[in-house]
Amino acid sequence: MGVAAKIAPSMLSSDFANLASEAHRMLSCGADWLHMDIMDGHFVPNLTIGAPVIESLRKHTKAYLDCHLMVTNPLDYVEPLGKAGASGFTFHVEVSRDNWGELVQKIKSKGMRPGVSLKPGTPIEEVYPLVEGENPVEMVLVMTVEPGFGGQKFMPETMDKVRALRKKYPSLDIEVDGGLGPSTIDLAASAGANCIVAGSSVFGAPDPAQVISLMRKSVEEVQKNN
Ligand code: DX5
Ligand code: ZN
Repeated sequence: MGVAAKIAPSMLSSDFANLASEAHRMLSCGADWLHMDIMDGHFVPNLTIGAPVIESLRKHTKAYLDCHLMVTNPLDYVEPLGKAGASGFTFHVEVSRDNWGELVQKIKSKGMRPGVSLKPGTPIEEVYPLVEGENPVEMVLVMTVEPGFGGQKFMPETMDKVRALRKKYPSLDIEVDGGLGPSTIDLAASAGANCIVAGSSVFGAPDPAQVISLMRKSVEEVQKNN
């Protein structure tokens, strides 16, 4: 028995000018979470959305807003995102080596669920202390592309990290993000990922509901056989 499958369309691939209707469309297609990519143009060479957009979207939906912080100073975002109505707050370990304890505590105190993410070149061992700490993160997001942009090619070599995590933590939420779709989902699911972020493969499909359901089945199938 594994942890529940969560399919999270990445709103980065949506029509930002119609964010609320795009969110409703994804939820009616069977999405569990909405993945919100927050970038500061510094940690990554791209700039997207911040707390004001989360606050606006929150007025239109009760859905779980899975916020992925690709920013250099995640601590500065905790208070505004908490107020805005974010649900999950996933920061990058590469910029939080010195203050993750404080960060996790603040995220929880604002009623959000803490997660940690790592780039393809960052060793998996770096997140172990955050999962095992006194105040642990509740999800690990393994980046399967270099963060910054949608529509990139899935990096299969990152699956070793997912496998290592799943072996060590059977009931941890493990999320993958980047290049996921019908042709790569089985690799991620069989490695042990249960939270699946997908942008271009879902929004670019003629039938997003079918892609979401296919990815869910892949995760559930692996769990059934374990
Ligand atoms: C990339 C973002 C992803 C991105 C995924 O830095 O973190 O969430 O939107 O997009 P696809 O699924 O198109 O690779
Ligand atoms: Zn993301």
